[in-house]
Amino acid sequence: MKRHHVSKPDSSDPQLFAWMCEIRRFLHQNPELSFCEFETAKYIQEKLNELGISFRSGLGGTGILAEIGPADALLTVGLRADMDALPITEDTDLPFASAKPGCMHACGHDGHIAMLLGAARILLQKDLSCRVRLLFQPGEEQGNGALKMIEAGAIDDLAAIFGGHIDTHFATGAITVDEGIICASADPFEIRLHGKSGHAARPHETKDAIVAAAGLITSLQSLVAREVNPNQSAVLTVGRIRAGETHNVIADEAIIEGTVRSTHPEARQYMLEGLRRMVQGNASLYGITADLDLRECLPAVINRKVATTVARDAAETIIPAKNVISQGPSSLGGEDFAFYLQKIEGCLVRFGARLTDETGPAHSSTFDFDEKVLTVGAAWYAQVVLQFCTHRKKSKYLSGD
Ligand code: NI
Repeated sequence: MKRHHVSKPDSSDPQLFAWMCEIRRFLHQNPELSFCEFETAKYIQEKLNELGISFRSGLGGTGILAEIGPADALLTVGLRADMDALPITEDTDLPFASAKPGCMHACGHDGHIAMLLGAARILLQKDLSCRVRLLFQPGEEQGNGALKMIEAGAIDDLAAIFGGHIDTHFATGAITVDEGIICASADPFEIRLHGKSGHAARPHETKDAIVAAAGLITSLQSLVAREVNPNQSAVLTVGRIRAGETHNVIADEAIIEGTVRSTHPEARQYMLEGLRRMVQGNASLYGITADLDLRECLPAVINRKVATTVARDAAETIIPAKNVISQGPSSLGGEDFAFYLQKIEGCLVRFGARLTDETGPAHSSTFDFDEKVLTVGAAWYAQVVLQFCTHRKKSKYLSGD
């Protein structure tokens, strides 16, 4: 293969694009849930073997670390892709739709894997002055895959880490780059209300867990509406309730599951304390008992200053500057990339991938994205490495935080 030394990755290679589409489609058809990415991991390892890239597997369960570039390089840059799918039954007519009911790549992680492997192929053709570590991470949707990777040493000795997420809110060809908070903290909770069951006609002999649950769910919304500073973004969503057996039996238990999101640490703490207070207050209001399982789970994603500059410069090298945009206000979505950024320099960007207006949003059964984003993503991942290594030597990015 011809070696070329231009700094800009050749992202227009149709063979590379076809190869990435094939990877994405195979993964899309064969999705696996968080921490069960066994076949996914095997498939990635096959591709790494084809490329002659050495790797370690089994990190944090099914995670993989692969490295490219000189082993004696002074600097190692990390690039991360997440691997897991969601417990959703796909409802698209795609020829490569999920073959597994109840499991779907509805967040684009299939694309992330394809573009990171594409970036590896681009980087193999470069004379690298630094080492590149590819992190294939399990369990992003569970919120702790990144933590498990960190515990397994995945970011030891990394100078910085970069990641990207497909986002169909933005047109294909756009990359959003923002310093500071871009994703909210996300804390899931489960509340168990314990009442006393009995005949539907004799409530005085029972403690109705369903009525208590209904009261609690309604009250919880006043935390956001009436207590949190309206200038601080926060949301509390109840996504699941389970209670009762049949129409004429009063339920003795109700289980409420939800999530608390905020882009502001102060609002986050207020919401979490408010949740505890309301669960206990509601229990005494209805004369029942309650248990709250609150997992302080994901911190906010806060892009670091230096890495954000690198990410922006890389984006402006591979696409027109006018397509390097801001995502606007921080998303209330969560991303466990936050854990990496708590430890080391880094930046997470979004790759525009809007397909049609009819395509469903992320985390829906009709989600799909424009595959042309694979070219943009692979080129950006490769360029961010070249940018970081070249300019790090010139100390361009050394000032700042
Ligand atoms: Ni995702």
